[in-house]
Amino acid sequence: MEGAPAHRSSRLLVLGAGPAQLGLLEAAHERGLHVIAVDRDPRAPGFRFADRRAIVSVEDEPAIDRLAAAERVDGVVAPGIDFPVAIAARIASRLGLPHTLDPVTAQTATSKLRQRERFAEAGVPHTRHVVCSTLSEAAAAAAELGFPCVVKAPDLQGQKGLALVPDPDALPEAFDAARGLARSSIVLVEELVTGPEVTVNGFSVGGRFHPLTVTDRVVSDPPAFGVALAHVWPSELPEKTVEEAVRAAAAAAAAVGVQDGPTYTQVLVAKEGPRVGELAARLGGGHDAELCEAALGVHLNRVTIDAALGERLYDGAFVPDELAGGACVRFLVPERGVLEAVEGLDAAERSSGVVWVRSYRQPGHEFGELRRGGDRAGAVLAVGDSRKEAVVRAERSAAKIRFVTAEAEALV
Ligand SMILES: Nc1ncnc2c1ncn2[C@@H]1O[C@H](COP(=O)(O)OP(=O)(O)OP(=O)(O)O)[C@@H](O)[C@H]1O
Ligand SMILES: [Mg+2]
Repeated sequence: MEGAPAHRSSRLLVLGAGPAQLGLLEAAHERGLHVIAVDRDPRAPGFRFADRRAIVSVEDEPAIDRLAAAERVDGVVAPGIDFPVAIAARIASRLGLPHTLDPVTAQTATSKLRQRERFAEAGVPHTRHVVCSTLSEAAAAAAELGFPCVVKAPDLQGQKGLALVPDPDALPEAFDAARGLARSSIVLVEELVTGPEVTVNGFSVGGRFHPLTVTDRVVSDPPAFGVALAHVWPSELPEKTVEEAVRAAAAAAAAVGVQDGPTYTQVLVAKEGPRVGELAARLGGGHDAELCEAALGVHLNRVTIDAALGERLYDGAFVPDELAGGACVRFLVPERGVLEAVEGLDAAERSSGVVWVRSYRQPGHEFGELRRGGDRAGAVLAVGDSRKEAVVRAERSAAKIRFVTAEAEALV
């Protein structure tokens, strides 16, 4: 795969300009690329790094297809969110652009169900689930798997349609919510895996999986079940467990058919061993690439851009160079209400060990109660000599930030 020559400014199409794409967009901008960003939200924070903004949904494949052709892009990339990963692969294939994923692999990777079918065939340990089309099927599945269980749509992310179901009475609402939001008409009922959870961030080159950061995912309790509040590196789990999680992530990438490019794999650590919850064939949406750069000196955003442009990747780009003893992305949770101002950002960014602070929303944005990843208001990335120091520094920085909100009703 040959990309555009390095001396001319390559044109990169990025699907999404929200919080999950900020890091890659910034890296593309710093590299001097001509960046075309797509997002349906005109206030998306990543647009500030774009040379051309297209106010188009990342799900509007025909519109993105036309845009890619008209802009004569050299590459297309979908970091941070799942659904456009398959769109990017199809567009690249149609336009004859270099790309890390073929359309079939990308399509498999964006379905929780299809990827698990591959995991089952390949013997990759994964979460036990039952595919259900009706509430009575779901009730039978839940009775078999036991309560509490988990209900989710097979084709969504960001905790949309995801619920922890404590007892049979709570099942109908969770089932209806998942089926109502799902793109297909099926719902997954899963065993609840109790135990810690890690995220394995890796990058494959020609089928060789390079493991990078393995981070502990700190999650919220219900009703914001599964929402990440922090990613902390290094994991505090025993080395052997971390190695098992890495092996499971590598096997998951191979099973889905990811030969090239980044993967983000959620691994639940059960008593019996690791269970892959889900693999995403893209960069993580929680600033995982920036954490990797701060922790290991591996420029995950840059290599992802290189790969999207069809440039040659060298193994040396993935050699970790422990820059810090610990690193932490801590998400910021606002009070509910309409955002009036964000105070303390400068002080928070000057706080020791802080790499950056990001505020996702502009005044006028209405925050609801924390239910999903999209309800978070920003993040802090901090490093330290140890994991603990990084966490304390991120907390200290976060405590300086205030999201000033007004009652939604009062402003109507
Ligand atoms: N079966 C399960 N057992 C235990 N925890 C689970 C289970 N399913 C989901 N979770 C929790 O919810 C989180 C999100 O789950 P999942 O990845 O399936 O949903 P999602 O909507 O794709 O979210 P994300 O966008 O964060 O990946 C997991 O990281 C985990 O913390
Ligand atoms: Mg997921």
